[in-house]
Amino acid sequence: DTQVWQLDARCPEPAVIDRAAAIIKAGGLVAFPTETVYGLGANGLDPAAVAGIYRAKGRPSDNPLILHVADRAMAHRLSHRLPPAAALLMETFWPGPLTLVVPRAGEIPRQVTGGLDTVALRMPDHPVALALIKAAGVPVAAPSANRSGRPSPTTARHVWADLQGRVDAILDGGPAGLGVESTVLDLTGPQPLILRPGGVTCEQLARLLPDVALDPAALGEKTASCQAPRSPGMKYIHYAPAAPLILFEGELPRVQQAMQRRAAELLAAGRRVGLLVSEETAAGWPGAAHLLTLGSRRNPARAAALLFARLRRFDRLPVDIILAEGIPGRGLGLAVMNRLRRAASEIVRC
Ligand code: TXA
Ligand code: MG
Repeated sequence: DTQVWQLDARCPEPAVIDRAAAIIKAGGLVAFPTETVYGLGANGLDPAAVAGIYRAKGRPSDNPLILHVADRAMAHRLSHRLPPAAALLMETFWPGPLTLVVPRAGEIPRQVTGGLDTVALRMPDHPVALALIKAAGVPVAAPSANRSGRPSPTTARHVWADLQGRVDAILDGGPAGLGVESTVLDLTGPQPLILRPGGVTCEQLARLLPDVALDPAALGEKTASCQAPRSPGMKYIHYAPAAPLILFEGELPRVQQAMQRRAAELLAAGRRVGLLVSEETAAGWPGAAHLLTLGSRRNPARAAALLFARLRRFDRLPVDIILAEGIPGRGLGLAVMNRLRRAASEIVRC
């Protein structure tokens, strides 16, 4: 049985936090809001509790988890050899959507790190998350609180839809603000490497770390081109709605034209089409298609906040296939495009 507890996101009730912390300390699972997406938390020092996270999500056990800390002292206990850049990054971006991959301390269970000798650490910028970690008194291991492969949850209702009956409690602190996950930055190599673009942008990191690089995998690209638009890529699908999603990338108006052609073909073939488009191109679509928007192409922060809820909304619409318009990959747009590419079963470059 899963309990759902509402609380005030700015000033969480201590009694509710204490009940949730007691579950964590006893080895149970609690979903909680962060500033990025909802997390599925367990005691990060308890191997059995961490194993419970993988079971609840259906997550492959070789995909390591982030340890969430309430302060920097906790981070120092989890990594005795923090790289020199870590101090400046924590100073600048913590609490916030930046996860640092650093050498791990010995006491961290193998289940957390997937057998790696590094660990991912993050201090979330959310009063509920921070209060929960403090009250539990242990680092909280937490992936996004979705079933593996599904879009990440940005509301408690999304968590409920995926994990009811599989977790002990869900803390409902309202919608997560940012809407995309933290940036994962690896500090263990010769140069800082962005493994996953997220809430802290590449541009922000580059101002502090001139030699920061983007792991090619961080783009989320599968083999794709206009000539051979059909890419299998199924192995890498993540964040995906139930219906297959075709992503169209490039400049307007070519993207819009390619999408309109494909939509017309699909509708003529009797397929039920969903469209995920920007405000700029939202007008003039056939009435038969189900259209959702991501806001303006010039406002990637809004697209980030809306993205996962929109992908989940398509699951409740009668659509067989979704055509999605890519947005420019600057700033938070890079994180949005990474998620869209990984959700896509086909990418068309225009
Ligand atoms: O915003 C977020 O980061 C959210 C909230 C809940 O904090 N959490 C989240 O966790 O997105 P998850 O498990 O969905 O994604 C964690 C990412 C994965 O891509 C994982 O492979 C990577 O971090 N990761 C974790 N530990 C790592 C390590 N030691 N080395 C490299 N990558 C690691
Ligand atoms: Mg996730």
